[in-house]
Amino acid sequence: LGSPIENAKRAAAYRAVDENLDVFEHKVIGIGSGSTVVYVAERLGQYLKDAKFTDYVSKFTCIATGFQSKQLIMDNGLNFGVIEQNPNIDIAFDGADEVDHQLQLIKGGGACLFQEKLVSTSAEKFIVVADSSKRSPRLLGVNWRQGVPIEVVPPAYVKVKNELLSKLNAANVVLRQGGRAKAGPIVTDNNNFILDADFGEIENPKELHDKIKAMVGVVETGLFIDNAAKVYFGNSDGTVDVMV
Ligand code: A5P
Repeated sequence: LGSPIENAKRAAAYRAVDENLDVFEHKVIGIGSGSTVVYVAERLGQYLKDAKFTDYVSKFTCIATGFQSKQLIMDNGLNFGVIEQNPNIDIAFDGADEVDHQLQLIKGGGACLFQEKLVSTSAEKFIVVADSSKRSPRLLGVNWRQGVPIEVVPPAYVKVKNELLSKLNAANVVLRQGGRAKAGPIVTDNNNFILDADFGEIENPKELHDKIKAMVGVVETGLFIDNAAKVYFGNSDGTVDVMV
């Protein structure tokens, strides 16, 4: 057992896998990024050791959403595959930074949003796992650096930043820095930058996503719209709330 927050994350992840993964049917599984999905991979690793599932689980192919995700897949003894060879994903699991009552999400706190969106939108079923602090009536962008993460092609970051401020009235836009871990901006798994744009409370996440996405230089936004099928919120006492 770990800290209350780890207990919450583990509870959400284990329940989500146990309830949604049909080991006999699902052959291609998307694995997200972040600290909660660690427990999804851990649970799948446990299935692999369970005699009643071994034959089936060993035939799974897991699709990563970034470098950390690929490591999780390998560390848990799961088969790794690429999305180019497995474009139709049966089910994908991932964390989120914020979830509203309509199951719209903000993601990208770990800078892996592009591949996460590629995988989640290629999946027949997308299941989100999170601790209950991620739950919010409206998307506010408070859980990660006050804003919506946006992946941009490096030479376009000033242009996109200026447009977010002038055209979309962002209160603040920050080029995400590596902090003590790296001098200068962080670089994504796709060699791009991340802008964190603060829009305050987001009235219409879909409209905002569409407007940002239309800007030249934007690769993808951290607004995941009409994508999640179910969200599992873990609590520190080990209970789980499911939102559909
Ligand atoms: C990675 O870029 C993110 O989208 C993560 O999925 C998200 O930040 C959730 O991470 P945690 O599970 O660590 O909160």
